[in-house]
Amino acid sequence: MEILGIDIGGSGIKGAPVDTETGQLTAERFRLPTPQPATPKAVSTVVAAVARHFDWRAPIGITFPAVVQNGVTLSAANVSKKWIGAPARQLLADATGCPVVVLNDADAAGIAEITFGAGKDRRGTVMLLTLGTGIGSVIFVDGVLVPNTELGHLEMRGMDAEDFASDRIRKVEGLSWKKWGKRVDKYLAMLERLFSPDLFIIGGGVSKKFENFSAQLKRRVPVVPAELRNEAGIVGAALAAQSLLEAASDDALAG
Ligand code: BGC
Repeated sequence: MEILGIDIGGSGIKGAPVDTETGQLTAERFRLPTPQPATPKAVSTVVAAVARHFDWRAPIGITFPAVVQNGVTLSAANVSKKWIGAPARQLLADATGCPVVVLNDADAAGIAEITFGAGKDRRGTVMLLTLGTGIGSVIFVDGVLVPNTELGHLEMRGMDAEDFASDRIRKVEGLSWKKWGKRVDKYLAMLERLFSPDLFIIGGGVSKKFENFSAQLKRRVPVVPAELRNEAGIVGAALAAQSLLEAASDDALAG
């Protein structure tokens, strides 16, 4: 099945149709800048423009960098506070004229990675951390996602972990890869103590530069870079939309 995946990020809104059997994009990615301020209205207009670019009239999976429960955005760490409590699914469905599924950005990246990437066929507790503007977290237990875990907001040294170890902080504070890698290691050490995972996957843009800081990671648990890179959000959004559609059609058949 082909589903349009759209990834809403702090600087860009990117979309592409995805073949959900293979995880491959079936057309070139299209990206528009995220409007500033990124209010629900302004973002919906840009998402609609991305869908129009592909002349899309079918289901769409959309990621958002906040807690998303039952189609409602419930937090807004790095986006306009107007998203808190906003009916995101409804807004984006109205704007695009298509059925829409909305989910947390890290959860989407995790779904892609566990289906096609570094977490494929891995049982046990797998944790994926996306290190970018914020820190996104994902936990899978035997392949089943625990959504909206928000472990980037665990407290470290009196602050949010994402204000200590995100890639944004590396850039803002001008940290060397070595110094920043040590911070990431401290963050992973805390997660290791709390969750005893079987595997850590590092996602986000820094997964491409994994060898720059991997020597600083001294965990007992294996730590590997994500494999899907930039496209994980788009692919995971499409997969999430597909599984919800399948569940809905099963319900319809049963009922
Ligand atoms: C947000 C998460 C999001 C992460 C990565 C955090 O600040 O609270 O919901 O997944 O950033 O974008």
